[in-house]
Amino acid sequence: MEYESIKRIYHNYSNVYDFLFKHVFFPRQRHAILSMDIQPNEKILDVGIGTGLTLPIYPQHCQVTGIDLSRSMLEKARKKKEKHSLHHVTLLEMDACNLEFEDDSFDQVIATFVVSVVPDPVKAVREMKRVCKPNRPITLVNHFRSTKKLIAMGEDLVDPVCRKLGWRSTLALDSLAREAGLTVRSSIKMKKFDPWTIVFGTNTK
Ligand SMILES: C[S@@+](CC[C@H](N)C(=O)[O-])C[C@H]1O[C@@H](n2cnc3c(N)ncnc32)[C@H](O)[C@@H]1O
Repeated sequence: MEYESIKRIYHNYSNVYDFLFKHVFFPRQRHAILSMDIQPNEKILDVGIGTGLTLPIYPQHCQVTGIDLSRSMLEKARKKKEKHSLHHVTLLEMDACNLEFEDDSFDQVIATFVVSVVPDPVKAVREMKRVCKPNRPITLVNHFRSTKKLIAMGEDLVDPVCRKLGWRSTLALDSLAREAGLTVRSSIKMKKFDPWTIVFGTNTK
């Protein structure tokens, strides 16, 4: 996934994204964020916040910073922020692989449906670790390459098509966690054959 194609693809999605994806993404985003047990005044970073589908889920007692590469996607998130008067939310145009924050800036970091989209998933997770305080949660919601051989072969086959649509289908959780140094505390699927996994990580530094 290259920067320019990501920007072009997500610019094209921006008007129809919520219509296409909300019904499948929102329950998983909601489950992940409610599981984060966000405490008053915690600083949360939402990486690749897109159109801001997650915004209404956060409690108003925390401070949410959402970043995204796509100006068009962020514009939709800004509209939600204004419409719902979300004064606890800050939205910034930024690259997940080069976060412009100091080390240890956030109490928790989350990325939903993002790590298989960014140009360099390992670098993005390392950046999430850098800006997250030590031993604090990092939560990912994503499709990961199946550990079942036959399904993984199918995912490898459809990967070129998926990339044209704006994501990889071949990102494996175990190698991502190992290379980025993310400790996976637990992972769940909301349904037996769910293509998406909610990963609860800990920022061991
Ligand atoms: C599938 S969407 C997910 C959006 C949102 N997190 C959600 O769950 O609805 C992927 C998002 O990642 C963003 N993205 C891709 N590469 C990025 C990067 N390098 N830095 C920041 N955002 C990026 C895209 O612009 C897009 O908004």
